[in-house]
Amino acid sequence: MQDTQAPARNSSTPKQNASQGKQRILSGMRSTGKLHLGNYVGALANWVKLQDSYDCFFFIADWHALTTDYADTSQVKQNSVEVMLDYLAAGLDPKKCTMFIQSHVPQHAELHLLLSMITPLGWLERVPSYKEQQQNIRDKDLNTYGFLGYPLLQSADIMLYQAHFVPVGEDQVPHIEITREIARRFNSFYPKLGRQGDREPQHTYVFPEPQALLTPSPKLPGTDGRKMSKSYDNSILMSDSEPVVRQKLKTMVTDPARVRRNDPGNPDVCPVGDVHKIFSSGATLQEVYAGCRSAGIGCIECKSWAADALLKILNPIRERREHYEQHPKEAWEILENGAEKARTASEATMKEVRAAMKMTKGYQESAEIKVGSS
Ligand code: TRP
Ligand code: SF4
Repeated sequence: MQDTQAPARNSSTPKQNASQGKQRILSGMRSTGKLHLGNYVGALANWVKLQDSYDCFFFIADWHALTTDYADTSQVKQNSVEVMLDYLAAGLDPKKCTMFIQSHVPQHAELHLLLSMITPLGWLERVPSYKEQQQNIRDKDLNTYGFLGYPLLQSADIMLYQAHFVPVGEDQVPHIEITREIARRFNSFYPKLGRQGDREPQHTYVFPEPQALLTPSPKLPGTDGRKMSKSYDNSILMSDSEPVVRQKLKTMVTDPARVRRNDPGNPDVCPVGDVHKIFSSGATLQEVYAGCRSAGIGCIECKSWAADALLKILNPIRERREHYEQHPKEAWEILENGAEKARTASEATMKEVRAAMKMTKGYQESAEIKVGSS
């Protein structure tokens, strides 16, 4: 798998996190339950690399899940736990990064509310996912305030940690764009104030404008050749057992031109070929190209090689997951410690937000407010 093109760490622009001297990254996934291979190659594998060089916060967006699942919330918590187990299984390490569940950090809701005051409705209505999802998800009524506000809640998630970079796929870019616009709007309404109530000369703004860190995601189709997606029932899960992985690969569609064993095929138009391109060694890939084009190998053999390559990656992932499934308390402790760290980091931002908006809580910080008539 390829490396992400992460910007140089010594780029001078954004404020650095004081404690570690590292720039900050935030990303998350909705509570969708067990993750599939597409989630792994498109996001998690990249996050695992990023945790070594950045101050990373990776969270599970259970409030975002409510924007579509509000009528039946019975699976949301279980789904959050499954996502957490897959984070750990992928190799996210609580010693290197902070992992938590969104609803454990109420500051997300507070910032979302404050941002909602300054967000023009038109900005939200123009986000492409809004109309798309309303058209695609027909079995749910998505004419809600919460669903319209989905991108704004995402903006709050990002801004709350004053994140510089947000590793996401192409589909999320409009959400990062609107976050930048909202950060700019907040900063212009509420510049940071110094002790004397005047503009601070340096660090004049509370929020950096975050940048998307596009994950180069190789094309990974599902078993039916369409994009891998839970709703298509064509996924290979990160937690699938070896026999299940082998079985799913056996049923995977192939180049339709190879009807009979001695028809030549083309790995570039075959979903199994795509699996090879991501997971197989160069030598195997060469054998696949040569064997497929000359009809020297059969699809059954080719698929078993693909399964071998896949399982090399998936076996250690499944073993890590099994460890936490057997020690659920350990996983919960990681989440609780993560939430604690996230609350500390986000409360620091909220203090700046409340001060900039002149909405501080304490008497001390309200010296300029006159109490009584004197
Ligand atoms: N919208 C993202 C998705 O569907 C999930 C998400 C919520 C997110 N908040 C975020 C991603 C903040 C990055 C940053 O995948
Ligand atoms: Fe696809 Fe492999 Fe069959 Fe070629 S040999 S069509 S790459 S499964």
